[in-house]
Amino acid sequence: GVPSTYDAPVHIAVIGGTGIQSLPGFTLAATLDVDTPWGKPSSPISILHHPSPSTGKDVPVAFLSRHGLSHELAPHEVKNQANIAALRHLGVRTIIAFSAVGSLQEEVRPRDFVVPDQVIDRTKGIRPFTYFEKGMVGHVGFGDPFDIKLAELVRKCGHSLEGEGVTLHDKGTIICMEGPQFSTRAESNMYRSWGGTVINMSALPEAKLAREAEIAYQMICMATDYDCWRGAEGEDVNVEMVMGHMKANADNARRFVGAVLNELSKDEHAELVQGKHLVNQTKFAGSMTKK
Ligand code: ADE
Repeated sequence: GVPSTYDAPVHIAVIGGTGIQSLPGFTLAATLDVDTPWGKPSSPISILHHPSPSTGKDVPVAFLSRHGLSHELAPHEVKNQANIAALRHLGVRTIIAFSAVGSLQEEVRPRDFVVPDQVIDRTKGIRPFTYFEKGMVGHVGFGDPFDIKLAELVRKCGHSLEGEGVTLHDKGTIICMEGPQFSTRAESNMYRSWGGTVINMSALPEAKLAREAEIAYQMICMATDYDCWRGAEGEDVNVEMVMGHMKANADNARRFVGAVLNELSKDEHAELVQGKHLVNQTKFAGSMTKK
């Protein structure tokens, strides 16, 4: 059987979204059933071994399925606090998070990828969204909600796959809405007027909790639809549309994530993946990890 413990620290994690419930092609080294003060994460955490292109040695990567192993968690039910705390407990300081998104701009076509640099919070405050409460008061900067250094590396990897079917947009603002219902046309048009590039239900509070836990975090988005702003010019978003494009383009998504893991596993990025560049913003995050 697969081991249920893993002793060495794991610095890199992938959070898979809709359509990416697993990462095939990697060696499964352990499956961990983690518990945290915030409960159990969305799924067991798989530890995958990835051979470093620079040393040939195996680099461990943690994989977590945001919506559960069989997509049983709605966006507002995702165990965000437990997910980030469990990863941090294993030693994770770098997260690549994947998400299916609606496009709010004509030029971002379904199956295109976006490496966003901004987020607008349109969740409704019903999701547990912080670790800093009950006497543990703190405030973290969030002007750049994604990690600048990690973003640069992710963009390079995406561009290396152009010409092999991957189209990448280097920047973008995610509107993170509450859901689970999709937006009204009036909302969709308002988000466009705000400068929104894409829309999803998953970027927050995930990215905020990662920042509080002092983990470098970057989301990779894949467009699956044009939401509902195009009106008569196109069909409104529906689940079949999202799943259809996600499934059809899953190989590209996995290749993108694979290229990023390949790069992150190189010795030259050891300091980056261990979060050496992260500013100690609070005195709390360190107490979340035992490694
Ligand atoms: N995820 C994928 N498409 C979406 C949309 N149009 N709105 C919100 N979340 C989405």
